[in-house]
Amino acid sequence: MIGEMDADSVVGYFRGKSILITGSTGFLGKVLVEKILRVQPDVKKLYLLIRAPDAESAKLRIQTEIIGREIFHVLKEKHGVQFNNFIEEKICPLVGDIIYENFGLDNVQLEELSKDIDVIVNGAATTNFFERF
Ligand SMILES: NC(=O)c1ccc[n+]([C@@H]2O[C@H](COP(=O)([O-])OP(=O)(O)OC[C@H]3O[C@@H](n4cnc5c(N)ncnc54)[C@H](OP(=O)(O)O)[C@@H]3O)[C@@H](O)[C@H]2O)c1
Repeated sequence: MIGEMDADSVVGYFRGKSILITGSTGFLGKVLVEKILRVQPDVKKLYLLIRAPDAESAKLRIQTEIIGREIFHVLKEKHGVQFNNFIEEKICPLVGDIIYENFGLDNVQLEELSKDIDVIVNGAATTNFFERF
C-alpha cells in the first residue's frame, strides 16, 4: 500500500541522519523524540535545543521533561539495561534559545552542527494565548 511505503521511506531516510529539534520539551516535541528513537533506532543523533543556564541543567531538563516521561516506557522496556547508554549515544543537549542569533550557540558548536545536521525540526514556539504580540 502506498501509505505504508511512504512511512517506510521516511523511517529509512532517518537512518544515520542527525536531526536538530527545537521545542523538544514541549507537548509535540517529546512525542517526536520518542517516535524517532523508537521507529528508527539507527538515527545518528538528535540534537535537542534546550533553554537552560548550562549544559548540566539542560541534561536534567531532558531527563525529567522528556526521557523520564511515561511515553518513554516502551523504549525503556525495549532497550532494558542498555536504555541509558542508548539515550546517551543518540541525544546531544544544546543549550540555546531561539530568540538569539544562531540560537545563542558558540562558533565551535555551530561549526560542528553545520557539518553534522541533515534535518531541522522547529517546534519551539510560545503557545500561550495571553502572550503580548
Ligand atoms: N499542540 C497542538 O495541538 C498544536 C497544533 C498545531 C500546531 N502546533 C504548533 O506546534 C508547535 C509546538 O507546539 P506544542 O503544543 O508542542 O507547544 P508547547 O508544549 O508549548 O512547547 C513549546 C516548546 O517550545 C519551546 N520554546 C518556547 N520558546 C522558546 C525559545 N525562545 N527558545 C527555545 N525553545 C523555546 C518550549 O521550551 P521550554 O520548555 O523551555 O518552555 C517548548 O519546548 C508550536 O509551533 C505550535 O503552534 C501545536
